[in-house]
Amino acid sequence: MAIAFESLDSDIAGRTGKLVVNKKVVKTPALLPVINPHLQLVTPRELKEMGVEALITNAYIFSQSRQYSERVKEEGLHKLLDFDGVIMTDSGSFQLSVYGQVSITNEQTLSYQKAIGSDIWVPLDIPTSPDADRETAERELAITMERLREAKELFGNDAPIAGPVQGSLYQDLRGKAAKEVGDLGFSFCPIGAVVPLMEAYRYRDLVDVVMAAKRTLPRSSCVHLFGAGHPAMFALAAAMGCDLFDSAAYALYAKEGRYLTTHGSFKIDELADLPCSCAVCRSHTAEELRTAKDRTRLLALHNLAVTLGEIARIRQAIADGTLWELVDERCRNHPQMLSGYRRLLTHNAELERFDRVSKRRFFYRGDETCARTEVLRYQNQLARLRLGKEVLVACDNGVREGYDTVLSFKPPFGPYPDALKETFPIGQSEIPEWDAAMVRQACRGIRLLCESHRESRIRVAGLHREWKGIFAEETQGCAELLE
Ligand code: GUN
Ligand code: ZN
Repeated sequence: MAIAFESLDSDIAGRTGKLVVNKKVVKTPALLPVINPHLQLVTPRELKEMGVEALITNAYIFSQSRQYSERVKEEGLHKLLDFDGVIMTDSGSFQLSVYGQVSITNEQTLSYQKAIGSDIWVPLDIPTSPDADRETAERELAITMERLREAKELFGNDAPIAGPVQGSLYQDLRGKAAKEVGDLGFSFCPIGAVVPLMEAYRYRDLVDVVMAAKRTLPRSSCVHLFGAGHPAMFALAAAMGCDLFDSAAYALYAKEGRYLTTHGSFKIDELADLPCSCAVCRSHTAEELRTAKDRTRLLALHNLAVTLGEIARIRQAIADGTLWELVDERCRNHPQMLSGYRRLLTHNAELERFDRVSKRRFFYRGDETCARTEVLRYQNQLARLRLGKEVLVACDNGVREGYDTVLSFKPPFGPYPDALKETFPIGQSEIPEWDAAMVRQACRGIRLLCESHRESRIRVAGLHREWKGIFAEETQGCAELLE
């Protein structure tokens, strides 16, 4: 009965995988559309036809519903919603964070979720606000952890219960929470209370919070980013190892007349054309969509198509090993996302340990690229090169004689021996005309080579004079530049 998760391909700290619950399989990363039983813009059956394998709904709404609270206990969620995929139910925690109070206990919500046949149950965790002081965050986290322990005691270790990670912005608390959630045996771990961060475009904080949780969660846990619904940020989150997203955004944005794209959202009134290839956009003009009687539903269908398309693109990027390029592309569409991306790159040493060895390609896309995990890993490995006593790093194609070892040079990586010419990343990297950032990074590679090979004498030839200043700054005299 328990929730099983297996990862397949990986890229950065992201992975494709398979979540198996009650014999039903969900390919990850996956989107779980949020279904509100009272206002179904798109029915679960239609979601299924669009390729949705799992959805999420709110048990609290069902339990408070005059229309559904009894019926769902008799029929079960799957029959009532007409959906045979995985159905995850949230507790009343989100309502708790918005209204401050709910009229149920942890045990009641879990028993209810079990009774209505939910595939994944969520305890009554407390989503602590990012603005909470430390004392509040600690107190609320202690209650959340107590409820997670209670859930295990009441329903056993095999019950399909999620273990949310809370702790507000306090990274040590997030880390401690994640460790305990893992130790308690939860293999499905949502990262909670991040909605206010995303709503305020606080992507830097989001990156730190997710990284803090990932650091101590077991690698084998399936990680759900609670409440993340805008497709523009999925790639960033996937790069940190988030496997599941739930989207109410497709419906919420539609109700406000907003049209989602992977690089932001537009008011439908602003659009002269529909830049998308989904069924709705190909069968309507912008004017027709704007004035359609069922405009909200059509927008929801489009928003879903875009969101699902982005998830598929992320899965493909992970299979190819090109997720950094997708992250780079997505994060350049908003200044706060660019900040989040740059913050992620400051965690490169940690990410490097997750990253895969070989990828389909490496495209240089500007300064940020120099801090990517592939560059870091390559340069860490320079220490392992076996060099003779007299070493030359040749930055042009000139032929040099009289050296024990001759290396070539490729920014942003640095020196490389002929034997690595065809291997990743040297062989699979596309580099435009040199710029200062990549040359600086490559010169750091020369410095690392010198520091790890003190017995060798390293000289560098063929470097254009434009780069001599950078070379001098970065190598600090450890290698000699030949004219
Ligand atoms: N939905 C969005 N954020 C949260 C959270 O932190 N906990 C729960 N249970 N649901 C959420
Ligand atoms: Zn569309």
